[in-house]
Order: sequence, then C-alpha cells, then structure tokens
Amino acid sequence: MNYQWYPGHMTKAVRMMQENIKLIDLVVEVVDARIPLSSRNPDIDDLGRNKSRIVLLNKSDLADPIQNKQWMQYFGEQGAYALEVNSKSGAGVKAVNGLVQEACREKIERDRKRGIVNRPVRAMVVGIPNVGKSTFINSFAGKACAKTGNKPGVTKGKQWIRLNKNLELLDTPGILWPKFEDQDVGMRLAFIGSMNDEIMIPEELACDLIREIYFYYPEALKQRYALSVEADPAQKLTAEQAAGLLEEIAVNRKCFGKGEIPDLGRAATLLIDDFRSGRLGRMTLERR
Ligand code: G4P
Repeated sequence: MNYQWYPGHMTKAVRMMQENIKLIDLVVEVVDARIPLSSRNPDIDDLGRNKSRIVLLNKSDLADPIQNKQWMQYFGEQGAYALEVNSKSGAGVKAVNGLVQEACREKIERDRKRGIVNRPVRAMVVGIPNVGKSTFINSFAGKACAKTGNKPGVTKGKQWIRLNKNLELLDTPGILWPKFEDQDVGMRLAFIGSMNDEIMIPEELACDLIREIYFYYPEALKQRYALSVEADPAQKLTAEQAAGLLEEIAVNRKCFGKGEIPDLGRAATLLIDDFRSGRLGRMTLERR
C-alpha cells in the first residue's frame, strides 16, 4: 500500500499559515508522543524557522513512559522547549504558560526596552491532523476561551483565541506535506489516524501495525489476543507471518464471515482501534 495523502485543502491551509507567520512570535507544534519524529511536519519546520518554538508531546498517556523521557531528552538536546502533555485529561497543560514565557523571554525583554508593555505573545498552534490540536487548545483555554477576530492582516475565518492578557493563539488546520520521502513515516501516520482511513486498506495497515508492535512490544500482542507465535521479536515479522497473526486475532476475537471464515477486515479494524485507544498498552513506535 502506498501511504500518501495531501488533499487540496491542506495547500490552502499552508498558504494561510504563510500569510500569518509574520504576525506570530511563537510556534506551538503539537506532535504525537507515540511517533514524535514522524508526526513533525517538515513544511512547518521551514515555516517557523525564525520563530521561537515549543514542541508539545501530546497523547503522552498513550505513549511508553520510558520513551517519553527519552524523547524529552532528545528535544532538550536539540535546544527545543518541549513538554509532555495529555490534552484529554489536562495533565501538563498548565505548564505550557511558563514555557511560553521562557521561549519568548527575548521578545518580551525587547518589547520592554522599547517601552511596549503588555503586548501579548502571539502563538500559532500547528500540527498534522489528529494529533490533538483542538483538544489542547480547549484544555489550555478552559472557559476563558474567546475568539478575537479583527486583527490587522487577519481575514475572517481564522481563529484567534485570546487566552489571557499575555497570550493569543491562532488555531490552524492540520496539515501534512506533499510527499513522504520515507514510506515508513507515512505508515506511522496512518497508524495514529493522521491520514484518511477511507483511503487505507485496513488489512494491509493492520499487518504493518502487527509487524511494528511485535518488534517493539511482542508480549502486548501475544497477551491481548492469546497468540501462539514464537517468532524472534528482534527480527521484523515477514508479511506472511503478520497476515497469519491477523487471522489468529480474527479467531481469538470471533470475527467470522460466512461459513466461519475469519473476517480479516473486521479483525484489522479491531486491532487498529485497540492500538489507537491504548487498549494494547502504552506504546511508542519510534526510537530516537
Ligand atoms: P486535531 O485538532 O489535531 O485534529 O485533533 P483533536 O483535538 O480533534 O483530537 C483528535 C483525537 O485525539 C480526539 O479523539 C481527542 O479526544 C484525542 N486526544 C487529543 N489529545 C489527547 C491526549 O492527550 N490523550 C488522549 N488519549 N487522546 C487525546 P476522538 O476519538 O476523535 O474523540 P473523543 O472520542 O476523544 O471524543
């Protein structure tokens, strides 16, 4: 399966972001902690090159806690301001305020020297689809959330949210990039639901997912679906082995079609759902 998805509305969204970048002091990049590198958009990297940057490792509750620490260390070594958050529960979200002040310290100081006081930091919240941008903004803004539509240079349809007197956020649509040089990146994005599921073949996606999970967390798969597999996890499973396991999952979960034939499509959807919702345990499918 070719992992690729770049619908027209994303081109438009990029244009909108390019037009607005001059108004922005800070880029808040939301990534998925389960695949912290693959869920970073290189186009966003370019766009925000000269801006302060915060990286939010969102969905940290679904990712492997040991790996979360590793990735935090990685981003720290890269000189980025990074934070683990769970936007769904709100854990870690409050700490973003302090990080914003830290990341924008130079700008705030510059303003102060010029006699500009109380100009809020303007931040653009960016990320690929489904990483949790909206959930983060809602959690961060809480009840104080208010749209501030009439900014200079900002036409209707953009969403400025005034968080408090120190911070305004520009919400942006999730965007991918035109071509994945590395198909494994596209594959991981499909795992976390950042690509349109309707253009995916569930059985193939599930087999790729089985191969990755078995490589990093073999016991999780074996336990949840009572699999009999004894393959060496140090080697990636072959496509045939993965297909065999999908069939075992179908049997274990009683997904049968006509004539008691294992329904691989249903088993695939079930497995993908189990992974996405954390029912297979906390997993990170990318190592630094
Ligand atoms: P987006 O704007 O970047 O496209 O993402 P959005 O906020 O719509 O979030 C996508 C899905 O991810 C939502 O689930 C949301 O609840 C979930 N989510 C966001 N942040 C976190 C997090 O930190 N941890 C966990 N576990 N989930 C998170 P959904 O299935 O679409 O909706 P719902 O069933 O949660 O209502």
